[in-house]
Amino acid sequence: MRRHKITVIGAGNVGATTAHWCASMELGDIVLLDIPQAGDMPAGKALDLMQSSPIMGFDSTITGTSSYDDAADSDVIVITAGIPRKPGMSRDDLLTTNAKIVSSVSEEIKRTSPEAIVIVVSNPLDAMVQQCQQVTGFDHRRVIGQAGVLDTARYRTFIAMELGVSVEDVSALLMGGHGDTMVPMPSCTSVGGIPVTRLMAREKLDAIVDRARKGGAEIVGLLKTGSAYYAPAAACAQMAEAIVKDKKRVFPCAAYCDSEYGVGGYYVGVPVVLGASGVEKIVELDLDAQESEDFQNSVDAVKGLVANMNELMATL
Ligand code: NAI
Ligand code: 2OP
Repeated sequence: MRRHKITVIGAGNVGATTAHWCASMELGDIVLLDIPQAGDMPAGKALDLMQSSPIMGFDSTITGTSSYDDAADSDVIVITAGIPRKPGMSRDDLLTTNAKIVSSVSEEIKRTSPEAIVIVVSNPLDAMVQQCQQVTGFDHRRVIGQAGVLDTARYRTFIAMELGVSVEDVSALLMGGHGDTMVPMPSCTSVGGIPVTRLMAREKLDAIVDRARKGGAEIVGLLKTGSAYYAPAAACAQMAEAIVKDKKRVFPCAAYCDSEYGVGGYYVGVPVVLGASGVEKIVELDLDAQESEDFQNSVDAVKGLVANMNELMATL
């Protein structure tokens, strides 16, 4: 059986950790790619990871490189290239630098892996995934942003911590953009099938929702030198798994919504069915009045960000 080829672009914290999770889950053979200025760093990380395989018992190969020839004909590509934020910065402050990086990476992907399904991670996420699709011209269903799996995992973690239950029994949904306007959905949150609103006072749930919204900044404040990577990388690996194993998982992802939710042609976090073709379906829910207002507010923030990015790219 042919093994899948998964390329991770950007061999920094999120990229190397994504390679680590994907290899240990035996999702395929991994290529870890960074810029030539990074020297032998990707090769060093790849070799180190390979040497963990006899201990951990996985058979994936991991190759470190700065050449897109090594990444050619990938089945799945994860873009983590770009700068992360530091304390005091918002994700949006990364726009100018990362838009240029994601554009150049997307050109190379289009040239060397025209059939790939691309998972974009670089921030500001909702604009970067739009830029990747615009540059590659790939079918929208094959260009997907990672944010919701991470944000929902944070929200689920805090609920499990508060209730003293297994995270595995907390099921939840979070929609909207990957920013301060993201929309946790208590109406779609349950613990072992029990609506969370029957297990927790409203004020406590509101505090958890607020902490989940600010989850990225909380980690930046603790690390001080960069942003989160273990959970973001685990989220990427789970999305890659859904694709290479055609699992039809239902995840919140940044997906291209046109008529869906009345978004009108932007990437925004919504529940999707993720399988071998990428986004195979966008699940449309009836939102209540408050959820609709919050979602619209988040979509408006994403539209503003994309307008800034398009203006910026037009000047280059
Ligand atoms: P990092 O600084 O550890 O790694 C970034 C890597 O990208 C560096 O090794 C750098 O050399 C490389 N790079 C820069 N330009 C490149 C290019 N043109 N081609 C290939 N590689 C290139 O940063 P980290 O922590 O891995 O974060 C990466 C990005 O992911 C950041 O923009 C961060 O904000 C974002 N992020 C997004 C999350 C999400 O949920 N969507 C979660 C966590 C991080
Ligand atoms: C996060 O939420 C930095 O977007 C990244 O941790």
